[in-house]
Amino acid sequence: MSWIKDGYKKVSDAVVRKIENPAKSGGGHFPTLEGHAAAQRHAEQVLETHGALREKMNNLKKEFKIYRWSPDHLHRKPFLQSYFVDLSKCGPMVLDVLQKIKGEEDSSLSYRRSCREGICGSCAMNIDGTNTVACLKPIDADTSKPTVITPLPHMYVIKDLVVDLTNFYQQYKSIEPWLKTKKPPPDGREYRQSIAERKRLDGLYECILCACCSTSCPSYWWNPEQFHGPAALLHAYRWITDSRDDFTDERLQALTEDETRLYRCRTIKNCTATCPKSLNPANAINKMKTKHLLSQPVEKTEDQIGRAFGES
Ligand code: SF4
Ligand code: SF4
Ligand code: FES
Repeated sequence: MSWIKDGYKKVSDAVVRKIENPAKSGGGHFPTLEGHAAAQRHAEQVLETHGALREKMNNLKKEFKIYRWSPDHLHRKPFLQSYFVDLSKCGPMVLDVLQKIKGEEDSSLSYRRSCREGICGSCAMNIDGTNTVACLKPIDADTSKPTVITPLPHMYVIKDLVVDLTNFYQQYKSIEPWLKTKKPPPDGREYRQSIAERKRLDGLYECILCACCSTSCPSYWWNPEQFHGPAALLHAYRWITDSRDDFTDERLQALTEDETRLYRCRTIKNCTATCPKSLNPANAINKMKTKHLLSQPVEKTEDQIGRAFGES
């Protein structure tokens, strides 16, 4: 048996040597195959195929330009760092690319992630100009141009792709995102809803608080502290429209005490265009404005209504 193994190894070594270095080992010519035209042709084809595959493998390398900034180097300005990733050895999503870079090339790269399936909202970032969650964003397979990854826009950067969400969560907290009731449940156990009442919450409760919408909203960019932003407002509407909640008026009043919290929305709809969960915060905001205006005395001026829906 051993001579078969040794013989096989010698032949495979010879072929590999040729494939690795065809010029040194006589180009595509295999002396051992002399007199066997078909075998010679096949061996040459193998060389060609191998070369073509190798070239294609190189073409599968894609450039990713990633925003870098660290508080450890305060005097160094933010910059885009290039990484070249072999797509044939990487998962299909942009988060897979980040994981690969962090795991194999540069452990100093910082970003948030947890669930890697679009549930936790932590991997939100800007990819090729659009806010989205990296775990749901497929890699653009066009290797002729780089993919540019930057943090969520108009946010304070803590490090690399990690932004400070303190204000964002404060606004969420301020809308009191929990059920508030004045009476105990009729059966002493639970507050019930009809199927239709429950259906009104569809398109609202699915929000994962990724902040893609708020950080794509021009009104939020210019008034991040006063305007609550589409994410917090979508959640506010989720409780306002909940048939079990007894504080609808108070919630609406809290949002409209001044003109900034709700009415800074100018119905530009960037929020709806960018939401990775296909939700429609702009629509929720409009419904809330309508609900508020209908609850006002009739002498509400046209001017106020115009401002509410984005006319200047
Ligand atoms: S619709 Fe309102 S909340 Fe949404 S992006 Fe426009 S201004 Fe912002
Ligand atoms: S509405 Fe969409 S974009 Fe905005 S926080 Fe929720 S899931 Fe994210
Ligand atoms: S890792 Fe959770 S949404 Fe992307």
